[in-house]
This record gives sequence, C-alpha cells and structure tokens, in this order.
Amino acid sequence: MNAQGAQAGQGEHSGQDAAAAAAPAGTRLDPWFTSYADRAHGMRASEVRSLFAVANRPEVVSLAGGMPNIDGLPLDFLAEMTAKLLRERGPRALQYGGGQGEEELREQIVEVMRYDHIHAHPDDIVVTTGSQQALDLVTEIFINPGDVVVAEAPSYVGALGVFRAYQADVVHVPMDDDGLVPAELDRTLTELKRAGRTVKFLYTVPNFHNPAGVTLTLERRPEIVEICRRHHVLILEDNPYGLLGFDADPLPALKSFDADGVVYLGSFSKTFAPGYRVGWALAPHAVREKLVLASESAILSPTMMGQLSIATYLSTYDWYGQVKQYRSMYRERRDAMLGALAEFLPEASWTVPEGGFYTWVTLPAGLDAQAMLPRAVTNLVAYVSGTAFYADGQGRDHVRLSFCYPTPERIREGVRRLATVVHAESELVSMFGTATHHDRIGDSVEFPSPDQV
Ligand SMILES: Cc1ncc(COP(=O)(O)O)c(C=O)c1O
Repeated sequence: MNAQGAQAGQGEHSGQDAAAAAAPAGTRLDPWFTSYADRAHGMRASEVRSLFAVANRPEVVSLAGGMPNIDGLPLDFLAEMTAKLLRERGPRALQYGGGQGEEELREQIVEVMRYDHIHAHPDDIVVTTGSQQALDLVTEIFINPGDVVVAEAPSYVGALGVFRAYQADVVHVPMDDDGLVPAELDRTLTELKRAGRTVKFLYTVPNFHNPAGVTLTLERRPEIVEICRRHHVLILEDNPYGLLGFDADPLPALKSFDADGVVYLGSFSKTFAPGYRVGWALAPHAVREKLVLASESAILSPTMMGQLSIATYLSTYDWYGQVKQYRSMYRERRDAMLGALAEFLPEASWTVPEGGFYTWVTLPAGLDAQAMLPRAVTNLVAYVSGTAFYADGQGRDHVRLSFCYPTPERIREGVRRLATVVHAESELVSMFGTATHHDRIGDSVEFPSPDQV
C-alpha cells in the first residue's frame, strides 16, 4: 500500500473507532447482535439441527422428517407437461403474476375442496408459497406481541416457529384419540378470558394430525366450531393431509360448518409434490383482502411456474388416481410401522393414524426423548423428540415417528434399532432410577430444521 493509501486507511480506521465507541457493542460472533428486532432474539436454531445433518446419511433410518415419498409420481408425464407449458404458455409462466394467485388455479382449488365438503368461491382464495406461507400471513395480520394463540397439545412444529416469530403466547389444549377435546377448549378459553388475555385464534390440524396422528371425530367438529364462535375466536384450520385417509373419504372440514369463523389452509405438498411450493388460504372476504396485501408485500406474487404447472396437472392428469396411489403406499408403511412397534416395543404405546404420515409414541416411564436422540442417531435411527411440538417444554416422554419416507423394510429396521436404544435407556432407569437426562435451556421454542417438519 502506498503512503496515501495507508493514510486513507488510517482515516477510515479512526472513523470506525469513533462509530464503534458511539454504538453499543455486538458480540465477537455476531457484530450485529444489538441491532436485531426483539422478535429475532427469540429465534434460535434447534439444538438438534446438527444431529439431523447426520441423520440424513444413508446408513441412518430416518423416522424423523415429514418428507412425502414422491417416487410414484409420473416423471415422464411431468417432463412432457412442463415442456409443453413452456412452449405454449412460457411468457406467462415465467412472468410475475397477481398477488392473489391465478384465477384458473383458484377455480380448480374450489373443486379440490369439495372433497372436504367446502363450497367456496375462487375470490376468497389466496394462493401462497406452500401452506407454510399462509400460516405466516395469518399470524402476521392477527398477532400483536403477547396475544394468545390456542393450539393443540402437541402442535405442528412449523406453526409453533411462526407463532414464536410474531411473539405470540401459545396456550396448549389437550387432545385424546378423538382429537381436540371440546370441554378442555371451552375451559381454556373461559380461563384466558377471565385472566384478561386476548386470544386471537385457535390453530388446529383436524385430520391425521402432525405430530399426534389422530383425527377430530365428526361429532366433535360442530362442537369445536360452536365453542369458538361463542368465545369470538377465529379458527385457523390447517389441512395438508386431509385427502390422505387410508380407508375413508375426508370428514367435513370445520370450514364447512362456519364459513365466516374459519380460515382454512390447504396444500399440494403432500397430495402432489412439495417442490412446487403451492398452497392456499380460504378466508372470509375481509380477511382475504388483508392476506393478499400482506402476501404482496412479502413476495409480490406466488410462483407462476408452480401455479400453472399444478393447474395443468390437475386438468390433464388423473390427479385423484395419484392421491389413491399415495394412500395405499402410506397405508402399507403405516402398517409396517405399527407392526414393528407391536413386535419390538410393546412396552410403549402409540396412536393409530387413519391417514397422513405420523404416529405419536409414548415412551416407557422415565425416558427422555430429547436426551436419548444422540444415542439413537449413534444407533443409526432418527426421530423427532416430542419436545419440538410444544411451546412450553412438555413432550420429553414422546417421540414422533414418520412412516412416509422409508420403505416398509427400512421402517421395520428403524423401529428395531429404536427399540434397542429404548431398552438400553430403560435399563439405566431400572438400575439408577434415571435415564439420560437433558436440561432444557429456557422455555423458548426452537426453530426447527426442515428435517423435523
Ligand atoms: C400441519 C402442517 N401444516 C403445514 C405444513 C407446511 O406445508 P407446505 O408449506 O409444504 O404446504 C406442513 C408440512 O409438513 C404440515 O405438516
């Protein structure tokens, strides 16, 4: 560096020193630590992210992630469909679109929702980047810091992450094998009102719950709607798995009982393919308007390529036949998982899912699912600890097992390995009165790795 350059460098340096003296210090690891918004301080990566990096290795049987198995998709058909789409409608498919989403697709979504007994109008639909973005938008337009979201115990980890990002307080309501318990919901809402809390919405996954695997019964559906109406609490009904019932057609959605009291979320991720990133929200008219504005300011417009691809797939392929194929594949995998649990881990208990991807396992007494995870991964099997699905640190005695991705043989092997770990941990309990223990740091929700979703 020449003398001039050195001088200029010095000048810059002393300017930086002055700025540093005036500004509050960051940390050595993050110079911007003191600059974050309050809500960002609550964001921290799940402790198990690094474990999941290992869990994705081929020698590990992952019963952790909720990745749909898309092996059965007609790839040749989709390749030809995409080529044709680009040839014939390329300039449209590769352009920005409207913030609400393509009308052509919204009209088809109306037809898809008829399976849930919903009679909607395309104007009331907002197409989103997966239903995950719809969760984010609804939370953004309703939640002030400290507002309460009531949610099932346990709840979808990706929704808990969104609620935390907007600084909501999540209050859990118990479920049983028939889904959310109406009397408990009523009691919780009454108590919250008495305590002067502002409850903005109930977040619920009525069908083939993630992670609990249970389905809200037909009898309970109007009850839940009536309770929320009486307490003036909006319902956020999240239904990505509804068409994936193994033995029966979908039950009527909560939305079908009360069009004005429910925001309904749907997705093509599990019934077609998540890579297109297309989901939707069906909302009361005024809410829909705000959702569109919020979405435009976040992403301008949802993916045109994704929307037109899905619109073409729905209109030119036997998409419902594909859904039926998925159902029978996942049914076979569910059977493999429940069979292996009965064979290798009879001392545990589990839910019996009638659709979807997950079963919720209660471990033998004294075991800590979060603490046991490193040991499980060492034994080449991965799961998600129950703690990921609560906002308040519960869930150590549970694990979520996914049967969607591995083959039935791998599922059986995974459960066998898990049983070995559980038996070793149970032995520690019987010898020392305690198994591997984990002290949780604080009570905040961790931001899940996509592998846990
Ligand atoms: C209950 C639930 N809601 C929402 C989502 C988000 O799905 P997507 O954004 O792919 O539509 C998932 C994904 O696993 C889920 O299980």
